[in-house]
Amino acid sequence: SHPGWPAKLGPLVVPAGEVTVRPVRLRDAAVWSRTRIDNRAHLEPWEPTGEAPWDMRHAMSSWPPLFSSLKAEARRGMMLPFAIELNGTFVGQLTVGNIVRGALRSAWIGYWVAKDVGGQGVATAALALGVDHCFSSAGLHRLEATVRPENAASQAVLRNVGFRQEGLLQRYLDVDGAWRDHILVAMTVGETSGTVADVLVRSGRAAWS
Ligand code: ACO
Repeated sequence: SHPGWPAKLGPLVVPAGEVTVRPVRLRDAAVWSRTRIDNRAHLEPWEPTGEAPWDMRHAMSSWPPLFSSLKAEARRGMMLPFAIELNGTFVGQLTVGNIVRGALRSAWIGYWVAKDVGGQGVATAALALGVDHCFSSAGLHRLEATVRPENAASQAVLRNVGFRQEGLLQRYLDVDGAWRDHILVAMTVGETSGTVADVLVRSGRAAWS
């Protein structure tokens, strides 16, 4: 097994309720499929373009092969594929990918959360828990994220957790059917005093349960 995997993170309490982060499971198929299909309009503008149509890519039968590839990457130490739970229910995903060790010890981090639980601190709490885990148990030194300039909500989440802007990646990623510019943000270990979750708690954005 690899440092930081598997792991259960949290809970952290935010206005929406209790947020926990845990490894994705095979039995997430039904809730993953339903949530992804119900949230198509909310998610599609920000996610990599897929080959098959949305509803087909998010059918229940698409989860087992996707889950298997995420699990294989986690076993190789390349990814940390987490589910986000609110009050014990699956509401989204938090994924750490392209983990590189050696003298870089870096990875990217990304997330999505269902629209009906949005605006109540869930993504902020999940990202904070994920960042703290990467910088402690998982042994990483740097995390980066990329976000479209049009995605104001996600930029707020990143800013509130302590990511800094590093640059603009032009025509970076094939998202929603075209090559889209992305803002590159990053954080290295020790940029906050204490853990990121502590910073959220001290600022009144979250509480320990
Ligand atoms: N303009 C500006 N700020 C906004 C807007 C808006 N239109 N909408 C929300 N916000 C702010 C909120 O005020 C809040 O900031 P605050 O706490 O300073 O007030 C912040 O955005 C949202 O914080 P949370 O409530 O913690 O986030 P939420 O649980 O709603 O999840 C997310 C946000 C992840 C962006 C969700 O809407 C989502 O999944 N969107 C679709 C997929 C997506 O964009 N994923 C991120 C891709 S980029 C990446 O992964 C690095």
